[in-house]
Amino acid sequence: AVNLKGRSFLTLMDFTPTEIRYLLDLSHDLKAKKRAGIYNYLLKGKNIVLLFEKTSTRTRCAFEVAALEEGAHVTYLDQNSSQMGKKESLEDTAKVLGRFYDGIEYRGFKQSVVEDLAKYSGVPVWNGLTDVDHPTQILADLLTIEEHVAKPLNKVKVVFVGDTRNNMSYAWMYGCAKMGMHYVALGPKELWPSEEIINQVKAIAEETGAIIEVSDDVDVAVKDADVIYTDVWASMGEEDKIPERVKLLSPYQVTMDMLKKTNNPDVIFMHCLPSFHDFETKMAKEMMDKGYDIREVTDEVFRSRHSVVFDEAENRMHTIKAVLVATL
Ligand code: CP
Ligand code: NVA
Repeated sequence: AVNLKGRSFLTLMDFTPTEIRYLLDLSHDLKAKKRAGIYNYLLKGKNIVLLFEKTSTRTRCAFEVAALEEGAHVTYLDQNSSQMGKKESLEDTAKVLGRFYDGIEYRGFKQSVVEDLAKYSGVPVWNGLTDVDHPTQILADLLTIEEHVAKPLNKVKVVFVGDTRNNMSYAWMYGCAKMGMHYVALGPKELWPSEEIINQVKAIAEETGAIIEVSDDVDVAVKDADVIYTDVWASMGEEDKIPERVKLLSPYQVTMDMLKKTNNPDVIFMHCLPSFHDFETKMAKEMMDKGYDIREVTDEVFRSRHSVVFDEAENRMHTIKAVLVATL
């Protein structure tokens, strides 16, 4: 039997396919229970702390609601409201938080921070996004695929379009490799995943039967896709790169024409959100005024029957709840 009590959730690379399957099953179960109004207060008496060095809507709210619904208490600290990394070393902060809390969520820049928090705190640490990974998002995405695609995960083809070197693309590569899925990173060569990561996931793919591919050819890559996935062209902290990204990524904007090229009338469109599909987004508008169209997906696709982005967003909460329950 799977037992994840006391484990950190830093990257899917640390988990076996069986353990990931267990977390997905628990997520389906907790979601069904919530729908039925059944709460078992599985985290009663627990205290957790959420550390955010980048902004968030979904991740923060998902952790808060998931914890509160199961009876835990939550402290939220943003980058300006603690001593961490400024007046105090990460090691010391981690040791203190480990004495107060049963678990720590962290969102920020370096992956080494979540690793160090886990090393020094002695309690489970959950990765709420770093520059190179976003593992809780993948759990939500896999849950959403299971709800919308009538195939087992190891028969599903996911095409990740755009900046295939970002945290979401890497998180997807790990998830697909572990679950034996077909992953295509589709984007310009300049933004392809590093050789090191490709080799790492290909080694896992050999054991699980996953297919991991990289392409810059839209017509070939999207054929027979079950899922077209995209993300913003410049991630948090990379806003200065927008002009060069727009130049590289415009041919990879997700459009109805791209969905048609899949040849799959039931293809689903997914996005971790937030998205710039809407002209009216403050940042999109400012960039538009400067002549840059930063919409990674058209509004038409985003609002089409193919789009499952809000089910996906909801599933952040159910899957994060499963991670909390399993590790605490
Ligand atoms: N998808 C996601 O992580 O959203 P937030 O940045 O709003 O948390
Ligand atoms: N790649 C995006 C994901 C946001 C959830 C970013 O890091 O900003």
